Amino acid sequence: MALLTLLFFPDARLQTVAKPVPTVDERVRRLVADMLETMYEAKGIGLAATQVDVHERVIVIDVSEQRDEAVVLINPQVVWTSSTTHLNEEGCLSVPGIYDGVERFDALTVSALDAMGQSRVVQAEGLLAVCIQHEMDHLLGKVFVEYLSPLKRNRIKKKMLKAQREEAR
Ligand code: NI
Repeated sequence: MALLTLLFFPDARLQTVAKPVPTVDERVRRLVADMLETMYEAKGIGLAATQVDVHERVIVIDVSEQRDEAVVLINPQVVWTSSTTHLNEEGCLSVPGIYDGVERFDALTVSALDAMGQSRVVQAEGLLAVCIQHEMDHLLGKVFVEYLSPLKRNRIKKKMLKAQREEAR
């Protein structure tokens, strides 16, 4: 396994729309293992392949306290969403230190393949539901700050670029 390099907002590569995984093979299983390692190391609760500059529809999530309930979603498709939504405070490994409210469905059902290529249906609510929606946005090239006002987004963009310049020094 290996740690992967994260992309940080406003890197344009985060806007790439991911392609479906053609076959769940060893290559994809290695990607999943590396993404899980990277997510746990960064203390995140979810990671989309887009964030490690791999533009295929792969997501890993673990919202458990013990960090031992990995959820792997390959080629996820939303099959149902609740009629109700709520405002949830979100953060993102690609936008470190920034947290803000995003409106999300309270619950949803997705179908996807797991790391063995088996199809599965996941019914999610609470934090898992929010996380799935956040990560599926990444696969469409969308970072959560794009839901915020242009003013807020520009402020975040400037802050990120400044931090990245300072780190590069
Ligand atoms: Ni994110």
